Amino acid sequence: MSRVAIRVNGIEVHGNSREPLLNQLENAGLQPEYQCRNGMCGACRCKLKAGAVDQQDSMAFIGPNEVLPCCAIPKSNIDVEFEYQLQQHDQQASL
Ligand code: FES
Repeated sequence: MSRVAIRVNGIEVHGNSREPLLNQLENAGLQPEYQCRNGMCGACRCKLKAGAVDQQDSMAFIGPNEVLPCCAIPKSNIDVEFEYQLQQHDQQASL
């Protein structure tokens, strides 16, 4: 599956099963928090409420049902939630 639907904090965006989730959210105009972008810091952590991701090896601690979007690639339609309100800039999704 290449195209997937990503639901994030209740917002639907178009995604794919090729790129890290963090990049896809940014391409959709959202601004999740991040620092390292390689699985070290845990700053991008969010809850996976439904669906599956390919979570690549990471150093940061993640709890049950949590993923690190900087190094997780969606494997199906997913529903994720950040603990904070996501900033959204004007750029429209072009996926
Ligand atoms: S940005 Fe550091 S673990 Fe994702």
